Amino acid sequence: MNPTRRRLPGLAKKDGFLSHPFDDANGVRTSGLVAGRNLKTGHAHDRHATAYYGVAPSVFHALASRWRKTLPAASIEQTTFVDIGAGMGRAVLLAAELPFRQVVGVELHPALVRIARRNLAVWRTAGRTRSPARIAACDAVEFAFPPGPCVAFLFNPFGAVVMRRWLRAMMRAFATRPGELDILYVNNEQEGEFELLRSAQQRRRKRTAAGSTDAQLVRLFLGPIKRSRADREADKRILANQPDGEYASAPHEDCSIWRWMA
Ligand SMILES: C[S@@+](CC[C@H](N)C(=O)[O-])C[C@H]1O[C@@H](n2cnc3c(N)ncnc32)[C@H](O)[C@@H]1O
Repeated sequence: MNPTRRRLPGLAKKDGFLSHPFDDANGVRTSGLVAGRNLKTGHAHDRHATAYYGVAPSVFHALASRWRKTLPAASIEQTTFVDIGAGMGRAVLLAAELPFRQVVGVELHPALVRIARRNLAVWRTAGRTRSPARIAACDAVEFAFPPGPCVAFLFNPFGAVVMRRWLRAMMRAFATRPGELDILYVNNEQEGEFELLRSAQQRRRKRTAAGSTDAQLVRLFLGPIKRSRADREADKRILANQPDGEYASAPHEDCSIWRWMA
């Protein structure tokens, strides 16, 4: 067998793999936990990857509906959804059921890219995509966002170093595009990186002439989003079955919503 096509550690029954009810109900493959150390691609950012794990569908839906209540600058039909660290594409599948302008999943690991693309094909065949959707195989920091309003979704994909690089890349890419970027962050372990950037922007604003219209990051929401009872039970069962018990499940995910605005 081609070694790059061998099943990733964490995705075999002997590694404690259990499937999530989302997959059983929908005929897709998004289950499993792959630790960051097992997500090697040869890229310099590999060592900052957290893990692969699919987002709880109930958390995705609750955060998306909270975001829609924040009065985004554009309608959902004009907005591109980008999942940064798309893994096997669970969040991409869920987003593609909404009428976004387009949905893009960005994923670095080639085995996960292949699985996500197969899942999208299942979704299309089943008539479940309301928006055009695709998976881009590349590093998050190198991904070029399309023109027009965008919402970036992150389910704790990487540690502080890459988060800092990604945020800087965003600020450069959207420098002349205030109001065109919202960020939804689930399991926001690197929230401090956003806060540091916001403080630096506020200091810069104070130093420059009064009335500066430079865009800045504004936090619209910070707090826990509860899993549904079904997701809570599924994640608890799946994570408790891991042989080394490295990851624990909680009844909620800590989340935030940020807007890049003038
Ligand atoms: C926790 S999973 C999230 C999966 C998906 N977003 C979801 O919600 O179902 C994080 C993913 O980020 C990916 N990742 C980590 N670092 C990355 C990078 N620098 N560029 C692109 N993807 C990355 C990992 O390979 C992993 O699949």
